[in-house]
Amino acid sequence: MTLFSINTKIKSEFCKKVYILHFKSKFKMKRYIKLFILCLVLSQSIFYVHGQDLFINNTVNRKYTNLNGKWEYVLDPYKTGGMGGAAVYENKEATGKTDRVEYSFDTAETLYVPGSFNTQKPELKYFEGIVWYRKTFDKANIDANKRYFINVGAANYKTKVTFNGKVLGEHEGGFTPFSYEITDLLKEKDNYLIIGVNSGRRADYIPSVVTDWFNHGGITRDVKLLETEKTFINNFFIALDKSSLDKKNKTIKGSVFFDGPQITQEISVKIPELKVEETFNTNQEGPTTFSFSVKNLKLWEPANPKLYEVHISAGSSSVKDAVGFRTIETRGREILLNGKPVFLKGICLHDENPFRKDRANTTEDAELVLNWAQELGCNFIRLAHYPHQEKLVRLADEKGILLWEELPLYWGIQWGNLEVLEKAKSQYDELINRDYNRASSIIWSIANETAPGKDRNNFLSNLADYIRSKDSTRLISAAVKKDQEIDGHPDSVYTYNDPLIEKLDIISINEYLGWYGGLPEESRTKSFTTGMKKPIIVSEFGGGALQGFHGDKHTRWSEEFQENLYKESLAMFDKIEGLAGMTPWILVDFMSPLRQLRGVQDGWNRKGLISEKGQKKKAFFILKEYYDNK
Ligand code: GCU
Repeated sequence: MTLFSINTKIKSEFCKKVYILHFKSKFKMKRYIKLFILCLVLSQSIFYVHGQDLFINNTVNRKYTNLNGKWEYVLDPYKTGGMGGAAVYENKEATGKTDRVEYSFDTAETLYVPGSFNTQKPELKYFEGIVWYRKTFDKANIDANKRYFINVGAANYKTKVTFNGKVLGEHEGGFTPFSYEITDLLKEKDNYLIIGVNSGRRADYIPSVVTDWFNHGGITRDVKLLETEKTFINNFFIALDKSSLDKKNKTIKGSVFFDGPQITQEISVKIPELKVEETFNTNQEGPTTFSFSVKNLKLWEPANPKLYEVHISAGSSSVKDAVGFRTIETRGREILLNGKPVFLKGICLHDENPFRKDRANTTEDAELVLNWAQELGCNFIRLAHYPHQEKLVRLADEKGILLWEELPLYWGIQWGNLEVLEKAKSQYDELINRDYNRASSIIWSIANETAPGKDRNNFLSNLADYIRSKDSTRLISAAVKKDQEIDGHPDSVYTYNDPLIEKLDIISINEYLGWYGGLPEESRTKSFTTGMKKPIIVSEFGGGALQGFHGDKHTRWSEEFQENLYKESLAMFDKIEGLAGMTPWILVDFMSPLRQLRGVQDGWNRKGLISEKGQKKKAFFILKEYYDNK
């Protein structure tokens, strides 16, 4: 990384640091001290690429070597980065009998990548620190006309990527992909990729320190060695232009992003099935935008999830993807898919394979839960509370299941911290870049149960505007706080008036009457609404039940209690004017350190309609019947 190839991300990072340091510093520093510190900051910015070298989308359809499998590991519980004075990523080994090296990968045990390290070794169950992973490999036939990148699907939470002893950079965020270039470092023999993943929680992270899910740490999704052209299409967006929805011939629009020394002069976009072959000239700066008219376009929808093969090429670089074309909008209290009202028959989901007690990371993991959701009668899934694996989003495209996606801006975030807002934008950039071309993804959610307040309102208002500026093809929502409980509230119709509602396209409400307050029967005299004429989604409701435990309908934790809660809640929701959908909490029991009732929870949140062993509870069939008759 030379000064001149310093990318805009680092420049903006450096400027942000200067702003915070220079203008926000409370005490007045002497000019020369400031100058010295600024130089120090600059040197940091050049060598530590905070964020990622380059975003590369659609990796599954690019040329790559899969680096999954057994990786050696060294624990670093105190997050020092070094053992006995040597940095772990230097990959040192004692060779002579007098040598002193206080770690060793050669004699280390292994962890499987991808996968949470917490669930692979009993002694790591609640480990929250740094795990240094090492993968060694040879690379024959290195092509001098190609470029090579390490791509990580996700690693939770803060990750330092090093290659053959060089620090490539650091990434923050536990659920979105990132890439670093290794072209100048790759050798034919004995390469070593060492990745340090720090799963520790902090108040200035996203999420912050308390969540109601298990903090699965480590390299939790695939690692790939990508091979690209010298100048290549690293990212592209393509979508149906909603202003053409009512026209006979539709308009498809998009953008193509390049990286490399030789920006070619011409781009071609082909959709063979539609007999589309369009060419566009590139300009030298920034992405190239395009749009063209198409005939006989079949729109993507749950009943007919039509995907088209799209080929985009420029010079010797070409990419292909399977893309569905659709629009999503609101009209008053309705949600319109391709201009037609749709009721979102949904369910919430965590990104976990309950049988493996691990983060989901395969297509089979995605098949398991999507099949359960379709058996339940769902056309919609809320992917709570963080970006799920890309394979699930792609499978939802194929199956015709609509999705809500979100960042874990969950409960207590440092809303007044400018750096946290930058992190949210950066992580949303990565999510939008990854899933922009996925028809199934229709909603970006910006918060879950966050308390109204000046800093939080400003933070989320700023983030909503930012996301809209990046992606106008989706709707924005947020799950407002459940603490505005309607139980015991004097009004029979509770009006949610969170100031955030103004910024949302869809108002989503987490409502736990009958579980966190009152008994289910109270729902008969209650309802709720919002002061604004926008669609309402009940983004959470539900209660816990231990599968196989039975009692009467007021016996807490029995399947009958949960069943009765669903019956009473669904009857209440039918009274809500403008209800456009719901995502009950939750499809499957999931791991959570907040749930320690021995013999009932044992570290699991039991609000699932299905147990972690795949057994359906009675409430599953209540909701299924409701959806089947919707
Ligand atoms: C909240 C929260 C969920 C949590 C659920 C529960 O609504 O959004 O993350 O798991 O309630 O209490 O089970």
